[in-house]
Amino acid sequence: MKPFAVSTGTTTHMNCKINMLKRRSRLIEDISEPEALLEIGDASCPVRQAYEIARKFYHRARSSHDWDHSLRVYNLCERIGEKEGADMTTLRIAALLHDIGRHAQDISRGAICHAQHGARMAGPAVRQLPVSDDRKDNIIHCIRSHRFRGTTPPRTLEARVLYDADKLDAIGAVGVARAFLFAGEVGARLHSPEADVYASEPYSRDDTGFREFKVKLCRIREKILTAEGRRIADQRHEFMELFFKRFLEEYEGKR
Ligand SMILES: [Fe+2]
Ligand SMILES: [Fe+2]
Repeated sequence: MKPFAVSTGTTTHMNCKINMLKRRSRLIEDISEPEALLEIGDASCPVRQAYEIARKFYHRARSSHDWDHSLRVYNLCERIGEKEGADMTTLRIAALLHDIGRHAQDISRGAICHAQHGARMAGPAVRQLPVSDDRKDNIIHCIRSHRFRGTTPPRTLEARVLYDADKLDAIGAVGVARAFLFAGEVGARLHSPEADVYASEPYSRDDTGFREFKVKLCRIREKILTAEGRRIADQRHEFMELFFKRFLEEYEGKR
């Protein structure tokens, strides 16, 4: 399946496609313009309905956890979910909605858990989708359990795939780029060589890309839950190790 082409796996829903080639500039206002992302298909497709609902929630999202991130996670879910035999309708909807609570976490500087909050926010939207009650419950569970630092472990296959896809977008080249993007969003320095990364506070000047690598990103590979996810994680982890080794050398003027 080509990237961002949405289907529910049934003939009825195969017309439901997102044409990312039509994507225009990444101005935040584009999120409110329906024609920017969609090639209109079957309006009865639950994934398409979820897409229309979800994108509006990301209007105020910071770049490190925005709609683009959810679409990358969606694509990784396609790749991993198909291999693992997941229910793709559940997984696709959960991927689109998984970070809708992120803005609340960001403006509370981490006091609110976006996974728990997002699961509550998603309830009314998911209830109106044309999917079974079991799927609705699973979608909500996927959102609630996707967080690396969360307290709800993923219990279903779909939740494990979403968890892995979300973590994979935090490592490798994209992960490094997002770590520095996030550091910029919270006003952190490029690097704090004198700071103890394990004692530094999140959302502070010392919440650097390197700190994020040391306290979180370097541990992600061992937390991945699916076989296909681990295959991708191994490659991304290797790149990240090389990047930060080189980063420190360059920072100290050694290369
Ligand atoms: Fe998240
Ligand atoms: Fe996410």
